[in-house]
Amino acid sequence: MATNTLLLLPGDGIGPEIMAEVKEIIALLNGRGLTDFATDEGLVGGSAYDAHGAAISEADMAKALSADAVLFGAVGGPKWDGVPYDVRPEAGLLRLRKDLGLFANLRPAICYPALADASSLKREVVEGLDILIVRELTGGVYFGEPKEIVTLENGQKRAVDTQLYTTSEIERIARVAFDLARARGRKVASAEKRNVMKSGVLWNQVVTKIGKEEYADVALEHVLADNCAMQLVRWPKQYDVIVCDNLFGDILSDVAAMLTGSLGMLPSASLGAPDAATGKRKALYEPVHGSAPDIAGKGIANPIAMIASFAMALRYSFGLIDLSDKLDAAIAAVLGKGLRTRDIGKDGDTLVSTKEMGAAIREEFAALL
Ligand code: NAI
Ligand code: MG
Repeated sequence: MATNTLLLLPGDGIGPEIMAEVKEIIALLNGRGLTDFATDEGLVGGSAYDAHGAAISEADMAKALSADAVLFGAVGGPKWDGVPYDVRPEAGLLRLRKDLGLFANLRPAICYPALADASSLKREVVEGLDILIVRELTGGVYFGEPKEIVTLENGQKRAVDTQLYTTSEIERIARVAFDLARARGRKVASAEKRNVMKSGVLWNQVVTKIGKEEYADVALEHVLADNCAMQLVRWPKQYDVIVCDNLFGDILSDVAAMLTGSLGMLPSASLGAPDAATGKRKALYEPVHGSAPDIAGKGIANPIAMIASFAMALRYSFGLIDLSDKLDAAIAAVLGKGLRTRDIGKDGDTLVSTKEMGAAIREEFAALL
């Protein structure tokens, strides 16, 4: 078995508490001889600032660049509110995204049957929901130049952001989406606004071409991004994979996420370009939520988003589909038995701690191995 390297960056707040549960799962898998993960650990965010005066040290950046995958907890907290902008906790995550070239952000929205009643939508609308939003992460209006506020001669100010995409940027994100759809429901919906945006016209053309020439076995649909937002709330199960630019993806992924309940449940993956020699992609896996300073240190954080992020790493970085499916099944089984951390509990539920939730998932997982 080839050794796979994982860099763990627990970060701040609840980061270390939820990462501890993933470490236990890695130990279980290695102990059973099912994987051979070599893990290393580093500092990121406020904890890195306290130790090195930077949001991530050069040594840890080098480790991230050489690892097969990075598992990231969360960064930030009131303690670091006053630190200089360049070394604020978020700068660590932004540096990782940039230097690893993580251009594809994957956000699944999965509705666990046991939590279907927790959604703000009707059970029949969300039960069984399993969609994946693929968001372009390094281009578009968040990065395009010019990006400035200028004062005009008449004293008014003018603010400019530039939505900018090139053919190759659209091609590579489209390929990620089509590849993912091939391993799922073989359907891609591409969301843009070609009716009012030139970048939407190009996006539409390039995705159409890639679909036709390289993925004739995957059904492609084009949807205007605003309509997509409506459809997500009306009947989300019509979708399988949705691909979109950075801005629309930011919004649509948050809409899709909330169909399914708590922030404490939501995993994500960010992927880079395949290496020319090995075909392996750089990758970082992290929960969608932040460092939750309000509950840090209390042992009550929900570890599921972090554990489900590790399940994504098993799937997308290591091709361990069976183990990934089983870990997801273990999460569903534990929820089915009624275990709830505080964030997903309602009146009358018996609440469990971070460690109890982690242990219960491990026990279910171990029984499936
Ligand atoms: P947050 O996601 O940390 O917390 C929002 C609310 O959700 C809080 O009430 C929190 O207790 C709850 N929550 C979040 N994750 C949970 C979990 N696993 N289990 C139970 N409850 C959970 O967002 P907030 O409060 O806006 O930001 C707190 C800090 O986190 C800030 O410093 C912010 O900059 C940072 N942040 C970091 C992110 C990252 O590391 N990728 C992403 C978002 C925020
Ligand atoms: Mg967002």
